Amino acid sequence: MSKLVALFTVIVTLLCVEVLHGLPYTYFQSRKHHGFKTEPQFTEKYFSQTLDHFNFNSMGNGTFNQRYLITDKNWEKGYGPIFFYTGNEGDIWEFASNSGFITELAAQHRALVIFAEHRYYGRSLPFDKDSFNIPQIGLLTVEQVLADYAVMITELKQQLAATHCPVIVFGGSYGGMLSAYMRLKYPNIVAGALAASAPVLSTAGMGDSRQFFRDVTADFENVAPECRDAVRGAFHQLKELSEFQDYSRIQSELSLCQPPSSAQDIHQLNGLLRNAFTLMAMLDYPYSTHFMGNMPANPVRVGCETMLSGSDLLANLRNTAGIVYNSTGVLTCFDLYSLYLECADPTGCGLGLDSLAWDYQACTEINLCYDSNNVTDMFPPMAFTETDRQLYCGKRWAVVPRPHWLKTQFWGDALSTASNIIFSNGDLDPWANGGVRKSLSSSLIAVNISGGAHHLDLRGHNDADPVSVISARKTEADLIAQWVKMERARFRQSR
Ligand SMILES: *[C@@H]1O[C@H](CO)[C@@H](O)[C@H](O)[C@H]1NC(C)=O
Ligand SMILES: *[C@@H]1O[C@H](CO)[C@@H](O)[C@H](O)[C@H]1NC(C)=O
Ligand SMILES: *[C@@H]1O[C@H](CO)[C@@H](O)[C@H](O)[C@H]1NC(C)=O
Ligand SMILES: *[C@@H]1O[C@H](CO)[C@@H](O)[C@H](O)[C@H]1NC(C)=O
Repeated sequence: MSKLVALFTVIVTLLCVEVLHGLPYTYFQSRKHHGFKTEPQFTEKYFSQTLDHFNFNSMGNGTFNQRYLITDKNWEKGYGPIFFYTGNEGDIWEFASNSGFITELAAQHRALVIFAEHRYYGRSLPFDKDSFNIPQIGLLTVEQVLADYAVMITELKQQLAATHCPVIVFGGSYGGMLSAYMRLKYPNIVAGALAASAPVLSTAGMGDSRQFFRDVTADFENVAPECRDAVRGAFHQLKELSEFQDYSRIQSELSLCQPPSSAQDIHQLNGLLRNAFTLMAMLDYPYSTHFMGNMPANPVRVGCETMLSGSDLLANLRNTAGIVYNSTGVLTCFDLYSLYLECADPTGCGLGLDSLAWDYQACTEINLCYDSNNVTDMFPPMAFTETDRQLYCGKRWAVVPRPHWLKTQFWGDALSTASNIIFSNGDLDPWANGGVRKSLSSSLIAVNISGGAHHLDLRGHNDADPVSVISARKTEADLIAQWVKMERARFRQSR
């Protein structure tokens, strides 16, 4: 991982903004199965997948091995439904280990559970080490991914003698977008979708560029307005030290491995710090977790306590960043360019190979032009406009983003013509307001989870769960039961 990071650092250092990654995914690889009361015992398998679904005569004339996880432990063979997780930007084990609700629900429904890995992530690399070269990266599109899942579901149903088993798709974050899209695009295959914390509107270019960091700020402000002020004050001090070019003081106050030496280094530092707040807000679960890194219970509250723990604001800021980057307690200093990568997603691309794939997706179809401005949020002004994005993506990947394509392709503001999708969102999640917050019809249901962070509902039950998520899961289970029934009726009629 870190060799690649170093290499990438050299390449990337240009524009954009920062982070560890936001929409989704993997900071440390964690295989611990948290949130499960019973281990789901998945079997890891590979599926021979078509490289290019849309061109019969290209470099895609072939197949690659796509990883998936499967468990039939609870399945009533040939009859029980299939619960299919539409994998997103990371190692599929990471999602399987943090989505215990799906296996718990499967036990009730006697369902087969499959977690499919997204092409270009984890072990599902179509061209192995060359996957991230140009032009090989070109087969990384949302359309190809949906086709992968459609083909995989269809063939596995054949293989498993499950052709009349209703399929329900599940996903969180970008994975939730994919599950909603599966229902839009392949209603012949998918009876319904649980799209948890899916920012389907903002990523389609229908958001407000200030929304994300405003909502991160609101989480901290809601713990205590003084907390927001302390964060703003710390960034202000950092700005003053930078203006005086007091780089050695910045290094010692913030425990940096090297003193910063340029405006670019300060920009990188601001990005790294802002990203810590982003992750605490997204992963503000009421119990400690190991998803996209290690987090204590209620990290936003812990962050605020740390920000308010003494009069040295910069020391507080360093310790708060340590909640995210130094959760192991073994970091001796913060290395600016290996802990955080700036990319086309200002909420963070994560680290390692997965971050390359996500950067490419943010450079092509998925719009993530979020800014911070120090007015509607508590962070230093860091712009990332469509023009910045174009410039960066042209240099990095030789592509021109298509900001309107997702909206055109996946129904944008006309989602109300779809059916059988749950859009669940937690009000602590900075992604929530990029998604559907109000029900659009009797079968397009918005679920609000008060006190919920990023797709809390997909996690297995926990004693610390707020009542809101218990009732959200109940609503979801009831709707899914209805869809399964409707799909069985459809199968009966067509026989
Ligand atoms: C595609 O694959 C088939 C079977 O392997 C081969 O006969 C054909 O020449 C290939 N076409 C192209 C354009 O590479
Ligand atoms: C990481 O945590 C350990 C244990 O609390 C602490 O001694 C160390 O100074 C921290 N590292 C940084 C860079 O803050
Ligand atoms: C944020 O705004 C305040 C008030 O205008 C200003 O004093 C401070 O320097 C700004 N902080 C940054 C990091 O730009
Ligand atoms: C969920 O909360 C949002 C924001 O507070 C609100 O606008 C929306 O009406 C709520 N939706 C539902 C389905 O209750």
